[in-house]
Amino acid sequence: MAEKKRVSILGATGSIGQSTADVIASDPERFEVSTLTANENYKDLAQAAIRLNAYSVVIGNSTHEEALREILKGKGVSVLSGQDALIHAVQPETDLTISAITGVAGLKPLMNAIKNSTAVGIANKEPLVAAGAFVMEEAKKYGTQILPIDSEHNAVFQVFDFDRSEGIERIILTASGGPFRTWSAEEMAKATPEQAVAHPNWDMGAKISVDSATMMNKALEIIEAHILFGLPAEKIDVLIHPESVVHSMVEYVDGSVLSQMGASDMRTPIAYTLAWPERMQTPGERLDLTQMKELHFEQPDVEKFPALKLAYQCLEKGALSCLLLNAANEVAVEAFLRQEIGFPDILNIIEFALANEPDIKLESLDSALEADAAVRKSVSDYIDQELSQTKTKMKA
Ligand SMILES: NC(=O)c1ccc[n+]([C@@H]2O[C@H](COP(=O)([O-])OP(=O)(O)OC[C@H]3O[C@@H](n4cnc5c(N)ncnc54)[C@H](OP(=O)(O)O)[C@@H]3O)[C@@H](O)[C@H]2O)c1
Repeated sequence: MAEKKRVSILGATGSIGQSTADVIASDPERFEVSTLTANENYKDLAQAAIRLNAYSVVIGNSTHEEALREILKGKGVSVLSGQDALIHAVQPETDLTISAITGVAGLKPLMNAIKNSTAVGIANKEPLVAAGAFVMEEAKKYGTQILPIDSEHNAVFQVFDFDRSEGIERIILTASGGPFRTWSAEEMAKATPEQAVAHPNWDMGAKISVDSATMMNKALEIIEAHILFGLPAEKIDVLIHPESVVHSMVEYVDGSVLSQMGASDMRTPIAYTLAWPERMQTPGERLDLTQMKELHFEQPDVEKFPALKLAYQCLEKGALSCLLLNAANEVAVEAFLRQEIGFPDILNIIEFALANEPDIKLESLDSALEADAAVRKSVSDYIDQELSQTKTKMKA
């Protein structure tokens, strides 16, 4: 029997983490689970560790360590806590790490995972947008295979001819358009967090769901595609495809367009990543094309969803702008979810951040983290000072 693949999951309690657990649990002969991490949700972390027979768990917030130990008593699972343990959660000789911590909070654990794993499946786009060059450099340095999990990039990866990339004309990322695709600007101005997280096709964490509503998710994905596939901005296009069946496409110079299709179920790209370079059965949904009467494709409305324009502007301006875009968005989305700002404020805040670049040169990972912290501070101050009126209104 082939040796089991040793897998760790960063962000095991999230939507991606739990879908990964489902796929692993569907084929226990194939995988053994090394480390699982979470930040707050220690109960689900303990359940996942028991379900997957994990060797160790790491909880970011140390105040949960005792309670976590108590649940796992006698189960043979080692328990660690704190930010340092989280960063170093992935141990040497890991075959595959699934990186699924939301936001730039996942950057340092990802860098450590790259050092200690043969391959890393990246779901969390934020570290790639904020510090993509450093992430890819580290992967090159350690010979680590990067496997995209984001459904669009996973689709492109499956049909991208890496050996003859000069034959590629462009990639086309598909976008569902999110929950507000057909809403007017006036309706969107009053959107609540509850409405923004109600995605029509995908069941995801709160942050990425709000990103889908602003279409910032697609903006981040344009930058993610540039980092992962090395294509310039003009070779990365976006098409609205509300059915989310064609997960993205690669167009070749001879006019051939190759796509990957599937149900709107993240367990398919996750299974692809877990089994790579092989294929495995998944517990995920299957696509039934006979149930599809029509598939639609249309140009995105960049006036209604200016996030897309910002992504191209940031790629033109360079890595610092991409970092600013991501950091400001993370802070703004958190404030929106706490009902401190309105939905349109998210984009206004990002535009404020892009117009106020900190004077920092991105020479190292540390300088990227310094710039990230500076933007978060200036954006938080801006929300406190300039948007306090909205804040009072929202809370009333
Ligand atoms: N969900 C999808 O279908 C989907 C699709 C494509 C890409 N992605 C990307 O995958 C990533 C995860 O998305 P998700 O939907 O799975 O998010 P989620 O459901 O909110 O889960 C986030 C995970 O990250 C952990 N986490 C959050 N903040 C942390 C911090 N500061 N330190 C350490 N761990 C932290 C959470 O732990 P706790 O539970 O303890 O808070 C949880 O395990 C995002 O970058 C997203 O853009 C998601």
